[in-house]
Amino acid sequence: MEITVVLSQENETLPKAELLARLKTLEIDYEIINEYPGIIELNVDANKEQVIGLGSHLGYTHEILLTLSKTTPEEVETSIKEISWKEHIKDTFKVRVKRMGNGEVDKDKTERLIGGIIKQDCQMPVSLDNAVHTIKLVYTDPKICTNEFKEDKVIGYNKTIITELLIEQDKRHFFDNKPHKRPYFHPGSMSPKLALCMVNLAHVKEGDIVLDPFCGTGGILIEAGDLNTTLIASDLEKCMYEGTKLNLAHEGFENFKVYWEDVRKLEIEETVDAVAMDPPYGISTTLGGEDTKKLYTEALVAIEKYLKDDGHICMASPHYIDMNEVVENTPLKILEQHSIRMHKSLTRIITVLAKK
Ligand SMILES: C[S@@+](CC[C@H](N)C(=O)[O-])C[C@H]1O[C@@H](n2cnc3c(N)ncnc32)[C@H](O)[C@@H]1O
Repeated sequence: MEITVVLSQENETLPKAELLARLKTLEIDYEIINEYPGIIELNVDANKEQVIGLGSHLGYTHEILLTLSKTTPEEVETSIKEISWKEHIKDTFKVRVKRMGNGEVDKDKTERLIGGIIKQDCQMPVSLDNAVHTIKLVYTDPKICTNEFKEDKVIGYNKTIITELLIEQDKRHFFDNKPHKRPYFHPGSMSPKLALCMVNLAHVKEGDIVLDPFCGTGGILIEAGDLNTTLIASDLEKCMYEGTKLNLAHEGFENFKVYWEDVRKLEIEETVDAVAMDPPYGISTTLGGEDTKKLYTEALVAIEKYLKDDGHICMASPHYIDMNEVVENTPLKILEQHSIRMHKSLTRIITVLAKK
């Protein structure tokens, strides 16, 4: 089936990497057809239910749409008339225009016009609040002009994709899961969106055993736990150890073990499918981050022996630590890396590792 995926544009590489990692984890074969800012068109070897499953556990994907037809903004009306809507729409519906960038499209007029044409064919009522079908016209492949200040501006589009919404991101999940709403909070907690993305980059799937040996408040494992996984956490600080226990129980998870231990001395009974971790960044940048680097290497060596042969580790680190040096003398290799600019003096590097 052909789908159009609307990605967050808050980071250049993570949204696509997360989507592709999740497709791989779910063993869904795919082929990328086209890419535009915030849009990927794909052919996926999956049914509707599987695509909805895919979209229900992603941090940086906003929407997954079923591609019905592709046209140009000038030809939208004609292309809409060529689709047999009565075969497609058997309940209430609405039409929405989605512009990628701020190019000029008369949204209201287009939605009304196209809604009218579809209604005439399918004879189903429009419902703006509670529609069963949402038809989305995605305006993409932007025409860009650079102004006198060398700023790019979207002035129009070359392409309109006619789609039906399959699944959109549940924004409430991230809102309700904000770290300060948990029973135990600490300012170093990771955002749920990035935590979920890291879980996906670590290829976590239903039923896996997942380890976070620098668990802090448990933010990463909370996202992994939604996949019915067994969670193993550890932290050096007693307050974090207690806090994570409190937070995981508060989420309703039962399948977890939390250790109060230095990662370098951690002993667990299980071998794990995946590790996702956000170790401390240290403050010794003036020393070139030597202590931090040493901790990372020792941590990776300590946990590698518990990782299954085909398992993945997803790890966050600060930009001033060279991860190539960290893994140099370990049995691990770097598969991919992404960067997230946090503020002027900190960029986070997200690294995915596997056994050599
Ligand atoms: C950046 S925080 C993790 C935040 C976590 N991802 C969250 O969402 O709350 C790093 C954690 O590593 C713990 N830590 C530092 N050194 C450690 C070590 N040697 N072994 C285990 N945990 C350690 C700290 O106590 C801290 O809670």
